[in-house]
Amino acid sequence: MGVIALITVLSELCPLFSGSRNSWLLFSGKYVNDNAVFHDRDTFMNDYKEMNKSLKIYVYPHQKADPFSNVLLAVDFEPGGNYASESYFKKVLVTSHFTTKDPSNADLFFLPFSIARLRHDPRVGIDGIKDFIKSYIFNISHKYPYWNYSNGADHFYVACHSIGRFAMEKAIDVKINAIQVVCSSSYFVSAYIPHKDASLPQIWPRLGSEPNLAPYKRKKLGFFAGTINSPVREKLLEWWGNDSDIFVHFGRLERSYTEELLDSKFCLHVKGYEVNTARVADALFYGCVPVIIANHYDLPFADILDWKHFSVIVATLDIPLLKKILQGITQQEYLMLHSNVLKVRKHFQWHMSPVDFDAFYMVMYELWLRRSSLRLQ
Ligand SMILES: *[C@@H]1O[C@H](CO)[C@@H](O)[C@H](O)[C@H]1NC(C)=O
Ligand SMILES: *[C@@H]1O[C@H](CO)[C@@H](O)[C@H](O)[C@H]1NC(C)=O
Ligand SMILES: *[C@@H]1O[C@H](CO)[C@@H](O)[C@H](O)[C@H]1NC(C)=O
Ligand SMILES: *[C@@H]1O[C@H](CO)[C@@H](O)[C@H](O)[C@H]1NC(C)=O
Repeated sequence: MGVIALITVLSELCPLFSGSRNSWLLFSGKYVNDNAVFHDRDTFMNDYKEMNKSLKIYVYPHQKADPFSNVLLAVDFEPGGNYASESYFKKVLVTSHFTTKDPSNADLFFLPFSIARLRHDPRVGIDGIKDFIKSYIFNISHKYPYWNYSNGADHFYVACHSIGRFAMEKAIDVKINAIQVVCSSSYFVSAYIPHKDASLPQIWPRLGSEPNLAPYKRKKLGFFAGTINSPVREKLLEWWGNDSDIFVHFGRLERSYTEELLDSKFCLHVKGYEVNTARVADALFYGCVPVIIANHYDLPFADILDWKHFSVIVATLDIPLLKKILQGITQQEYLMLHSNVLKVRKHFQWHMSPVDFDAFYMVMYELWLRRSSLRLQ
């Protein structure tokens, strides 16, 4: 933790340390270790083992007969689609070795409500979510003593739909004290507090094994598909709508989305209504180097993984320079980015039985880091 924090501070203060995109070429292993996808691989590995052995989570118990069991219990099917991360996390957690039935033994307490399911529950709906959360916190804080001990600071919830941002407005202690593990991790909005909260990767589970396409087979420089629902996307269309190297699609695709991702060197993630979409995890899955054009996005696992080494981050203001930036990346640099994409993609996948270093374990690690910093206080 200390070392990671120090590196973060150093890289902010000292451009030489953080380096340019090609810092791994400048430093021969002295400051940046050869496994450059991590800020500090050794610290991560040691902490991870410790986390795996010791972290214990108490999940507030609910029965099948509970009228809101559909919202509070794990789903009994394999989660899919755009917001799968939320359901996946809970489903894997409740059968993992991290849970404890003894609250006095717990490091953290899990609030198991599902924002996505509340949204679709006709008894609650979008308008009723705030009151539901308020009532839920009232109930657990009267039935159990744990909430009151820290006013929620050792409690957490997990949500992928951005509606979750407004859900805590009548339960302000959740927003201010609890750890919010959310996909819509924009530090531009007051609902998300970096360092206290954590970014959950938005992952649309793709079937089959990861394709392994050689970089030289990728013919297009850049690819984006989506709807025009934000000024950033309008700007992208305005600059690159007719370009012959950067393919920007705002309507129907002629070929499948998969084919496009496999045929492109860089895949653009462009902020829409929200900073997050499943596009980043899709790009990684299909071996396409992600280009992040979403200011203020607290990228998933950014305190563990060094995004500079497997993605290209472009400020919204620099959209006119996009082609110049991408064409300025040498073949050697591209091969490095691409091979790092193949290294990190395992961290952006869910499995019904979790696999070491997959998205589930990475989220557990983020929780463990936050729990450790609570202990220090
Ligand atoms: C983490 O714990 C699980 C379950 O005990 C075990 O199977 C796995 O090997 C552990 N991983 C590491 C890296 O220690
Ligand atoms: C809180 O408890 C009351 C009384 O048992 C119950 O009616 C209400 O549904 C509970 N709220 C939630 C969100 O479960
Ligand atoms: C927790 O604090 C609230 C507000 O002060 C209080 O009403 C409630 O009884 C406390 N809960 C327990 C279990 O003591
Ligand atoms: C693209 O080209 C067409 C045909 O020349 C033109 O009508 C359109 O305005 C152009 N779009 C952009 C975004 O430049």
